[in-house]
Amino acid sequence: MLEIYDAIQRSALKIQDIIAFEDSGYSENQNATGDTQLELDIQSDKIIEKEFSKISSIKELASEEKELPCPLNKNGKYLIGYDPLDGSSLADVNLSVGSIFGIYENGYDGNDLKAAVYVVYGPRVEMVTADENGVRMYRLGKDKRFHFVKELKLNDKGKLNSPGGTQKNWKTNHKKLVESFFENGYRLRYSGGMVPDLHQILIKGGGIFSYPATTDLPKGKLRKIFEVFPFAFVYEKAGGAAIDGATRLLDLKCEQIHDTTPCFFGSKEEIKKVRSSYAYD
Ligand code: AHG
Ligand code: MN
Ligand code: MN
Repeated sequence: MLEIYDAIQRSALKIQDIIAFEDSGYSENQNATGDTQLELDIQSDKIIEKEFSKISSIKELASEEKELPCPLNKNGKYLIGYDPLDGSSLADVNLSVGSIFGIYENGYDGNDLKAAVYVVYGPRVEMVTADENGVRMYRLGKDKRFHFVKELKLNDKGKLNSPGGTQKNWKTNHKKLVESFFENGYRLRYSGGMVPDLHQILIKGGGIFSYPATTDLPKGKLRKIFEVFPFAFVYEKAGGAAIDGATRLLDLKCEQIHDTTPCFFGSKEEIKKVRSSYAYD
């Protein structure tokens, strides 16, 4: 596992460099979900693939930017599902973006996850790992190495509300749920990048991030194996919870590589509220 974390750190240095200095325009290609890829998405994907291809314990890679999984080593143990550059359209406006990695064994169901890692490229570059050692944050130093900063733990309840999706297309119970958090004093924190938004909730100790089913996207927008399962794993390991409205996200199966699901990540109290307001859906 450590060699995988090292490869992620090497990729992160290179990705940080292209975000800072290279073309952030659109390419001519679309990915499997139908998003037009940015040059940055394509280049980040190549950087990660190159670093991972040096590691014999990796059996296969599945990327948000590739239609099909890509086999690496027949005798490898791990399958890695990753989003090379999440929130890439925010690079244009100089907001934080991230990379997300799920390290799976045997298959890509939620319960196959063994570890999850994400990197935030913001004013600082930080990496968070979640595994049997808990949730640990590292920060890039002047020496171009990542240094351990602290362990991350969620409180039982927080103050931040990060509601995703187009509001016009929210269902009535979801509108009421979001409103009830605001009525209870929660503050809006939504950048449009799930990595910095979820990172903020983790660092500040708690809150709720939602990306619900909407009338235009009945299965939500966020992808199970590249985005949702890894963050569900991080949130659970940090003492929080993550559900699709009713079911624990990590109990969901992945039928297709690019499957999406509605998702809610937060501290325990907020997830309890989500569960009760979705009970009559
Ligand atoms: P990506 O850039 O990999 O396609 O994903 C962006 C995601 C996620 O980071 C964010 O939370 C969500 O899309 C934002 O979607 P809305 O603009 O619909 O709220
Ligand atoms: Mn993404
Ligand atoms: Mn992406």
